[in-house]
Amino acid sequence: MRPIIIAGNWKMNKLATEVESFFCCLENFVDSPTLKDIVPVICPSFVYIERCKKLSEHSSIQIGAQDVSSFPNGAYTGDISAEMLKSLGVNYCIVAHSERRIYYNECTDNIILKINKLVECGIIPIFCIGENEDQRVTGQTFEVLKNQLSEILLNIKKINDIDLVIAYEPVWAIGTGKTATPDLAQEAHNFIRNWLRESINPSFAEKTVILYGGSVSPENLQDLLLQDDIDGGLIGGASLDPEKFKRMVKTAISFKER
Ligand code: PGA
Repeated sequence: MRPIIIAGNWKMNKLATEVESFFCCLENFVDSPTLKDIVPVICPSFVYIERCKKLSEHSSIQIGAQDVSSFPNGAYTGDISAEMLKSLGVNYCIVAHSERRIYYNECTDNIILKINKLVECGIIPIFCIGENEDQRVTGQTFEVLKNQLSEILLNIKKINDIDLVIAYEPVWAIGTGKTATPDLAQEAHNFIRNWLRESINPSFAEKTVILYGGSVSPENLQDLLLQDDIDGGLIGGASLDPEKFKRMVKTAISFKER
């Protein structure tokens, strides 16, 4: 049985005091035993990772990073290595987010290196894929997803054995308030799971958590979770508000208990 992951991608938001008050609001909430099979994750900016680890140490919140260097170490000013993240106790790391692909020209070779480095360090990659609006309207969605999956995943070392999270994030739904309908999202998730089944193996497809991302909110999460192949959300805007984050975790808890 796959867990439900509710992962907040804070992007370049929050100042130090706001990080403190977010965790303050969550006190006594995310340490309850009812969280079995629900994994809340917060991916703050790199500069707050250590602080977030400390603030979440008595809770079940896992801390993730938003990116990682493709290099192991050395003269790469500004980069953060997988080993550095590991040394801070980071559990997850987002890779290939469309904002990195668009604004920083993240390319296939880099993404492969990043995922391999994270896996070597025992950090679970949250690998993002998804079509843009043009590709959606011209009927290329499945072709795009297939290419993104095969270009990257077929080049990951020991892919059969690794723990991976995939985030299906249609670019046109990110930060726009335009969520994919649950049916549309399920269709893409089902395509991804079938691809994993056929191109990697059935047990890999069965165990791999596939998150939906793109304007997820407390209002639409329940309907998304009702879909067979949607195992949670990668959530930007709505994860910044502690009350909304709590509501989304509560939705996941009641969904598992139903
Ligand atoms: P959003 O962002 O929830 O604000 O649309 C999602 C993401 O970019 O991961």
